[in-house]
Amino acid sequence: MKVLLFGGAGYIGTHVALEFLDRNDTVGIFDNLSSGLRSNVNDQALFYEGDIQDKDRVLQVLKEGWDVVIHLAAFKAAGESMLKPIKYSQNNISGSLNLITGCIKAGVKNFILSSSAAVYGEPSYLPVDENHPKNPTNYYGYTKLCVEENLKWYAQLKDFHYVSLRYFNAAGYDERGRMLGLENNPANLIPVVMEVASGIRPNLLVFGNDYDTVDGTGVRDYVHVTDLAKGHVLAADYLNAGKGNLVVNLGSEEGLSVQQILDTARKITGKPIDAQYVERRAGDPAKLVASSQLAYKSLGWKAEHSSVETIIQTTWKVYQANQKKLEP
Ligand code: WQD
Repeated sequence: MKVLLFGGAGYIGTHVALEFLDRNDTVGIFDNLSSGLRSNVNDQALFYEGDIQDKDRVLQVLKEGWDVVIHLAAFKAAGESMLKPIKYSQNNISGSLNLITGCIKAGVKNFILSSSAAVYGEPSYLPVDENHPKNPTNYYGYTKLCVEENLKWYAQLKDFHYVSLRYFNAAGYDERGRMLGLENNPANLIPVVMEVASGIRPNLLVFGNDYDTVDGTGVRDYVHVTDLAKGHVLAADYLNAGKGNLVVNLGSEEGLSVQQILDTARKITGKPIDAQYVERRAGDPAKLVASSQLAYKSLGWKAEHSSVETIIQTTWKVYQANQKKLEP
């Protein structure tokens, strides 16, 4: 199978590429390297430098002929999307439409979207299944929903099929240590905790410990990036088998609190990891946990690497491997 990954030099994309390469598929990686790393691009993959906002470059590469296109090239910082909506609409909406229309023009019929639990907004029931109301509370979440809606229309109007994978909280690293790239200046909980453990950030600010949860801190559904990556392979096979269109949640179905993540990180790293308990972060729900039963029924997908120990251990190993580079 020939698979083209837009945004394939990023954290998720690199792990997705590994899964396809492990089964000897042909992998193309299209990336502008604005956050992805050239060093993340596997030697066995074909690399195309480019920006999804450059529709001529997108069409040029798509015309090389691909069985499946996977779109992992969106900006993903929910908070930033509220401060810089133009950046998010240009890349996440216009850029994504360049990919969809490019596929139609180039005759690429199968499209996988990296989507997000952010399309749901504040949960009205838990666990969240795919029928849950879609009321995104940040512009990033809206951009994902907007692209999903366009995929639905194009699949009705053209010979074009898609799978949208709604990730919950992606975390962890390849257990064989094949991915060592770190995100610069992360905002997500686990990389922030790892930066404190590595001594490059003074402390963790815990955004609220007065939620109605097991210990008052926010609860999320952390899913290992290898589980996510395997979901993309199953989705590509699903499309290639002509099974139609699908929108599924990819989550571990387990909720973990900030405090539980922090306690596990202290145990595994042996570091004190200083934490300050501060005000809640605007827009944060108390708890967000997936139902992934539809992914299990439709794709045979199940999270198998998403224990809190595996997530923290694999992440800590990458921060230790980068320790030299990280020293202030
Ligand atoms: C997790 C928990 C915070 C940082 C975001 C995006 C979502 C998706 C995943 C792309 C929450 C707490 C965090 C910190 C903290 N992105 N926290 N101190 O907000 O669940 O989801 O990333 O698809 O769209 O919104 O992830 O890692 O920011 O927060 O206390 O310094 O950790 O309050 O409870 P979130 P997160």
